[in-house]
Amino acid sequence: MTIRAVVRGVGHYLPARVVPNAEFEASLDTSDEWIRTRSGIERRHFAAEGETTSDLGAAAARAALDDAGLGAADIDAIIVATSTPDLTFPSVATMIQAKIGLTTGFAFDVQAVCAGFVFALANANALILAGQARRVMVIGAETFSRILDFTDRSTCVLFGDGAGALILEAAGGEGTAADRGILSADLNSDGSHLDLLYVDGGVSTSGTAGHLRMQGNQVFRHAIEKLAETAHTALDKAGLSAADVDWIVPHQANLRIIEGTARRMQVPMERVVVTVQDHGNTSAASIPLALSVGKARGQVSEGDIVVTEAIGGGLAWGAVVLRW
Ligand code: UT7
Repeated sequence: MTIRAVVRGVGHYLPARVVPNAEFEASLDTSDEWIRTRSGIERRHFAAEGETTSDLGAAAARAALDDAGLGAADIDAIIVATSTPDLTFPSVATMIQAKIGLTTGFAFDVQAVCAGFVFALANANALILAGQARRVMVIGAETFSRILDFTDRSTCVLFGDGAGALILEAAGGEGTAADRGILSADLNSDGSHLDLLYVDGGVSTSGTAGHLRMQGNQVFRHAIEKLAETAHTALDKAGLSAADVDWIVPHQANLRIIEGTARRMQVPMERVVVTVQDHGNTSAASIPLALSVGKARGQVSEGDIVVTEAIGGGLAWGAVVLRW
């Protein structure tokens, strides 16, 4: 028998405030038309003043527990993917642990920017396969609105806030691609591209949180090239091909990147979960948000082969293949 990390529950949370593209027209030389055409984004959510990443993550965690029919005490470990923590330390994961009323198990953060959820999922899978934990809550939670430069039209119109959570549970499998659960992962980083996407502040440099800086068209070029490749590698590792894919659940940065990747993978857009129009780019939160919304829409259901793929600052990129 093989151990598999199987999805037991999923949930999400979006802050109440919805910001339509038109809101940026008042203060910037931009337009709803430009933002829609270049990115596919129509609106995004921004956290309220005082509402933190751990608040968003805890709300998503509660929704996932409800979906799974579990209580907080049933969780052995919490991994949070985020680049926008409440504080420099402790981890957002321990804050969420406290907010859902859990004092046992262990909790830590993973920082791989927009690829964070894919990295966290692969790490949660490894913990379960190693017998370190039986049930792991994997959360992507971000308040990117707090690190945006609202005078920079090339970045501030693209990002949003939100959180999604997935509960993985150890289960028995046959060791074949017919098993439910995580089937494979492919993770990559290349730190030589720091200048393409970074935050210009930090604890050991400026002592400030800083603002997001991005050479968007350069990141775009890498995304188109690397996402289909990592997805193919992960499918290969699972013994599957693009024809087996029921759903691509991609990082939601730009509709043109999502479409370009699907085209390269030869998967039709009817089999891609798209939420970027409503959420913008929520970095590490975008994939669990899309998984939760996709399930609610009836797009992702038990037995489906799901491919998640993401790229972000670092650069860091990767893909996870799972049978839902
Ligand atoms: O999640 C992490 C990874 N991040 C991403 O995947 C983002 C990847 N990049 C992108 O999504 C796209 O590159 C953008 C949406 C950021 C930009 O689209 P683009 O087609 O690559 O446009 P561009 O950066 O080449 O800019 C085209 C023009 C420029 O003007 P000029 O130089 O042609 O006169 C920009 O100054 O669009 C201008 N521009 C804008 N115009 C109106 C840039 N931002 C705006 C704006 N409104 N908000």
